[in-house]
Amino acid sequence: MTAQAPSDKPANTIKIDGREIPFEPGDTIIRAAHRAGIDIPHYCWHPGLSVAANCRMCLVELPPPPGRPAMKLDVLQWDASKNAYVYSNKPKLQPACQQACAPGMEVLSESSDNVAQARAAVQELLLLNHPVDCPICDQAGECRLQDYWLLHQRSKKRMKQEIVHKPKATSFGPTIVYDAERCIVCTRCVRFCDEVAKDPVLDERERGNLKEIIVSPGRQLDNNYTLMTEHVCPVGALTSKDFRFKARVWFLRSARTICQGCATGCNAYFDFDPRSNTPHRHRPRENKDVNAYWMCDIGMLSYRDAVENRLLEASVGTGPSTVEEAVSAAKDLLGNVGAKPERVAIVLSAQHSLEDNWALFTLARTYLGTDRFFVTGKPLGEGDDVLLSEDRNPNTAGVLKLCEGTPPRPLGDLLKMADQFDSVIALGSHVEVDPKELGAALKGKKVVVIAAHEGPLSKLAKVALPACSWAEVDATYVNKKGRVQTSERALAARGSALPGWQLVGKLGRALGFATSWRKLSELRKAMAGGDAALPSSPESAKGTEAQP
Ligand code: SF4
Ligand code: SF4
Ligand code: FES
Repeated sequence: MTAQAPSDKPANTIKIDGREIPFEPGDTIIRAAHRAGIDIPHYCWHPGLSVAANCRMCLVELPPPPGRPAMKLDVLQWDASKNAYVYSNKPKLQPACQQACAPGMEVLSESSDNVAQARAAVQELLLLNHPVDCPICDQAGECRLQDYWLLHQRSKKRMKQEIVHKPKATSFGPTIVYDAERCIVCTRCVRFCDEVAKDPVLDERERGNLKEIIVSPGRQLDNNYTLMTEHVCPVGALTSKDFRFKARVWFLRSARTICQGCATGCNAYFDFDPRSNTPHRHRPRENKDVNAYWMCDIGMLSYRDAVENRLLEASVGTGPSTVEEAVSAAKDLLGNVGAKPERVAIVLSAQHSLEDNWALFTLARTYLGTDRFFVTGKPLGEGDDVLLSEDRNPNTAGVLKLCEGTPPRPLGDLLKMADQFDSVIALGSHVEVDPKELGAALKGKKVVVIAAHEGPLSKLAKVALPACSWAEVDATYVNKKGRVQTSERALAARGSALPGWQLVGKLGRALGFATSWRKLSELRKAMAGGDAALPSSPESAKGTEAQP
């Protein structure tokens, strides 16, 4: 037998409607198409879940290779001239989500009339008993039934009978409501719970048009990933109690953010209404190296932190003030701190961005001449094996990297060493220590705090300056694997808040130092050329816009 020349080896490509695309071993047609940016309509397929092939929306035609007979299906077809159904046959279509790619395979999707008819028929079947709740359905505007009706059906309903009614507004647990009439039983939610959340609490019941999704008897849908079931649902059958009836999605805009809920740093979209500067949702943005397609409930609900419990105005003592007055008061309070730098404690925050921490780190080390750093943030929580980290701070790794060579001590150490300090300049308000003990340790100290939120540190401050929250700035975070990621600004700053690094710059200038960065571009330039041990350039926010 002669060895096959390399050039004879069939290339790992298929053709979809005449366009040649590559595939990888094990790819199905839809996966290869998805990677190449070709949309094959689908409901039940999701790139992060197993294949169910139950909706049949992804049917494609596969012309046989030369010399092989086509697989045919006997059908009854309406013949208008005979006013009757007649026997006929059609190519047997295949689900693109299940059919494996083979070298040289021809696939007809948009270019096949048989496929167009099949997609219209599948759509008609799925909508047969659908309540068409669109005017009151939260999915409207991002519902695949709506989109595919427009793209693949566009015909009026032929069924005149009353639809099959099924349970509506069934509570599945603390976060999710189920509407069985809207459900197309694609089982994405069932597979998600089983395969990703590892809590197989959902299943199907009954057959045919009586089928519905149920929760295991005696259980609720109450794991760490319940909101993802709503997110993977391609229609309005699962809705989130948090988002229900709050907003119409076509009024919302999205920013590409990094979740602030823990050290995993999941990539997200932050949906907000620009008319009222109000946040509404946090949902996953695909990044295979960080969170794949998923987020946890804590992260998905963390959009609220951008606006809740905020420190919005400056204060001096117990009274409100303007930011300028407060900066001047901070200067008077701190006095000539540079004369005794070892008496100043600098508290960095794993809750704040790399920019904010860099600014304070630089003011302290380069200008004040101290390296007495501490780091604080939210206390540890319970983690899991999916995404959620015990460390509930988005930038612990960033602070540690920034302070390479002068590692910051935990805030608990400041309580023990408090008598070594006269002044404290702190970023952030959250602490992992007992607030009462912190209050006792810092009693009588000159405490200046720059924070986005109210908390134990801002309450102790003699001067407090209001910083923008993470959703109000472009900022950089380093996740627990050392990945440097940028988060986009979504909201306009509330109250008198300014970016934390800008406030540090103002404070530095008031103290007589050349902390001259007034714009983010200036700050980032200084960061890139500074002497602080910064991680390599941040990865810009990226991800697919379309939901899979
Ligand atoms: S509830 Fe949604 S995700 Fe679950 S089976 Fe029904 S349509 Fe699919
Ligand atoms: S795992 Fe962490 S980063 Fe990811 S969504 Fe949850 S809280 Fe946010
Ligand atoms: S996406 Fe292929 S059958 Fe549902």
